Amino acid sequence: MHVTPIEAPCGARVTGLDLRHELAAERISDIRQAWLQYHVLVFPDQDLDIDDLARFTLYLGNFGEDPFFNPIKEHNNIAAIRRNADEKTSLFAENWHTDWSFQPKPPIGTCLYGIKIPPKGGDTLFANQHKAYDELPAGLKHRIENLTAIHSAASGYSSTGLYSERKKQNVGRSMDIVTSDEARRTHNHPLIRPHTETGRAAIYSTAGYIEGFEELKKQESKKLLRELYSYQGSPQFIYRHVWKPNMLVVWDNRSVLHKATGGYEGYDRLLYRTTISEFD
Ligand code: SIN
Repeated sequence: MHVTPIEAPCGARVTGLDLRHELAAERISDIRQAWLQYHVLVFPDQDLDIDDLARFTLYLGNFGEDPFFNPIKEHNNIAAIRRNADEKTSLFAENWHTDWSFQPKPPIGTCLYGIKIPPKGGDTLFANQHKAYDELPAGLKHRIENLTAIHSAASGYSSTGLYSERKKQNVGRSMDIVTSDEARRTHNHPLIRPHTETGRAAIYSTAGYIEGFEELKKQESKKLLRELYSYQGSPQFIYRHVWKPNMLVVWDNRSVLHKATGGYEGYDRLLYRTTISEFD
């Protein structure tokens, strides 16, 4: 197994493994170490079926719970991130986020496997939130250090949210998103969180899933969230991942934010996704 760091604030390529076959415990431990160190691992040229993707996911934890997608029919824990060539709906996941941060125990990681990849566009961006924390200007750091963030999925997945079928821009969406007023449920997490395995501090999640802060008034929260959102996605924290078919990417939701990008009108794009929850 070879781990080659990518010239970016996070990310490494992993080669020399065939993920169609079960890995030895020692290799799995090497993968975990690399994942904790680089936060985003890219495995190119892996011709995986759904059982291989599921097995890989379970090397790093249990399956996470994906509340607002229907899974693919062949596997309960795999969702399709899909956009058809002629689709006119708003782009999915175009804002910075970390997966399902409104859950009491959010997924520690996410796997995304490229199946149909357009010849241009559709890159995924990652922003290293340990680096963002380490480089916080002193004034901003002082303002946010002890805040408790209120998370919910309402702005995306409630009946009036971004992906609501009631909105014209969502009619004809090929992705199987299920909006529900369950999305209005809130859960709090500290804004600055130590990583559960490495202990490194990170800014955890961002506007979109964070709707405010316990300690601040609504308007103050909104202003701070806007300021933070722009800081968290600054160019010096970003790795731009360019996809190829048969590429598997696994990222650490405790360490990075991610977002989708467009620019592939006229081409299909299809990736399979699993989330990883902490081992019991
Ligand atoms: C996601 O946020 O899970 C999807 C990212 C992408 O489509 O690039």
